[in-house]
Amino acid sequence: MRTAVLISGRGSNLQALIAAARPAEHPAEIALVLSNRPGAAGLGHATEAGIASQVVDQSAYAGPDRAAARAAFDAALSKALEAAGIEMVCLAGFMRVLTGDFVTRWRDRLINIHPSLLPAFPGLDTHARALAAGVKLHGCTTHFVREEVDSGPIIGQAAVPVLAADTPESLAARVLAMEHRLYPACLRLVAEGRAKVVGERVELVVTPSGGDSLMQPPS
Ligand code: GRF
Repeated sequence: MRTAVLISGRGSNLQALIAAARPAEHPAEIALVLSNRPGAAGLGHATEAGIASQVVDQSAYAGPDRAAARAAFDAALSKALEAAGIEMVCLAGFMRVLTGDFVTRWRDRLINIHPSLLPAFPGLDTHARALAAGVKLHGCTTHFVREEVDSGPIIGQAAVPVLAADTPESLAARVLAMEHRLYPACLRLVAEGRAKVVGERVELVVTPSGGDSLMQPPS
């Protein structure tokens, strides 16, 4: 399944997806990396891996009519994806809210990773907010994208303990390590047709891991 990864910055989840999808028998092929920012460090990971990359520079789509600018940007994004024959889109640190038209165009073929156990802590600064709320487990979620930010049928989740001495940075690092396991596992399931949206919930076809794991699907 020809897959694009959309990034805005560092690209560590992109790296994890590239590494997981490298074997020829993997059901997804990372065929394109798209960034909305020309300076995104993640673009270098695409180059190193010999994967085509492209920038759709959001600064070229500014203007007084914000809705029109957003629509034009998302249309350019879809055009680039279609030109590359993309069938599946992974958002990986893509720091832009997509229009309803884009989300509808790629419905059930557009997935995201978010650094919290959704529906807790949608939006930004999830680690600081988790610490402030005093939760004892935090984590990450992969989900099919819907128009409302950080909403949509959940594919998988991984949890980590919140420790007394945690700072937002130390907690972020513990969650990120799990993101790098969860996202590739979920992309594989979606590409294999083993994570299906049924009535706005995802039905997973997975081998049970024994029941005591803090990650579902197991990696
Ligand atoms: C990750 O924490 C991801 O969950 C969030 O943005 C961050 C991107 O990190 N959406 P990276 O660019 O993949 O390193």
